[in-house]
Amino acid sequence: MTGQLRHMLRDDDLNHEEQKQVLELGMKFRENRFYKQPFAGPQAVAVLFDKPSTRTRSSFSIGVAELGGYPLVIDKSGSQLGRGEPVADTARVLTRMAYGIVWRTFGQDRVEEMAKYATCPVVNALTDDFHPCQVLADFLTIAQFRGGVDALAGKTIAYVGDAANNMANSYLLAGAVAGMHVRVAGPYGYLPRKDIVADAERIAAENGGSILVTTDAREAVAGADCIFTDTWVSMGEEAEYAIRSKPFWDYQVNDELMALAKPDALFQHCLPAYRGKEVTESVIDGPQSVVWDEAENRLHAQKALLTWLVGQQRGDESLLA
Ligand code: CP
Ligand code: NVA
Repeated sequence: MTGQLRHMLRDDDLNHEEQKQVLELGMKFRENRFYKQPFAGPQAVAVLFDKPSTRTRSSFSIGVAELGGYPLVIDKSGSQLGRGEPVADTARVLTRMAYGIVWRTFGQDRVEEMAKYATCPVVNALTDDFHPCQVLADFLTIAQFRGGVDALAGKTIAYVGDAANNMANSYLLAGAVAGMHVRVAGPYGYLPRKDIVADAERIAAENGGSILVTTDAREAVAGADCIFTDTWVSMGEEAEYAIRSKPFWDYQVNDELMALAKPDALFQHCLPAYRGKEVTESVIDGPQSVVWDEAENRLHAQKALLTWLVGQQRGDESLLA
């Protein structure tokens, strides 16, 4: 195997077999926190934040350390990026020192620019458009509760709420890669972009899955294996709080909506959650909710992803499984 520089900027950067490899590796890290230590040395991974974070910050910081590496965590306020230093220059500098760059920022073009100039793997830790690390963790959670990674293909997943946000987009693409039946429901004005739906439809067709985008939350969740939702007001949209409080009430995940899914359907939420808004307390704190396992799985999934990416770069097959 020859080395190949790979990045994880959007969910379809992994194909079906690669996504399975990463998730299988994630299952191994679930069983043994120290399954592989690709950064033993310790080698540094830069973890940059232009937006707030609890789970992503802790899972990447702890995860890189458990992989034998040193997590260099930099916030916007403490970096020259926040003062307008070009992304390309930041990439050129960090890539001379770090063995990976993980970045939470606004535009998708920014992580793409970082990847263009980096000679180490770049990972999207959430942009306005995608949150691929979260969905790897969410699929690992389905694998955990439903008999392993092979059980993912053919499952029906439903996301309801703000269907134009990063989570909706990532479920569309990652679900298509996994060969799932992906249903996404939101109100008019908050539906996914046409190009993302078109990509998801093409990828789903290749993997035996399907895509449904609807304004009917009940249609989306009917008979589903797993229900997802997310905040109605994403980071960066705080000024729209008043406008965004109105259109989503028909998309709240409550007991009535959950009752339309499979009786044993799982409920997941990337968190932070706003009880009484996108989800009721009865659902998120109820028996079908697996949100704490989901949060823990950020650690295992991201360690798997980083290990797989450096395995690809080094051409080291022992890091891929
Ligand atoms: N789900 C998630 O990414 O959480 P944080 O914003 O706390 O990182
Ligand atoms: N859609 C949310 C996800 C938070 C993890 C946001 O972007 O704020």
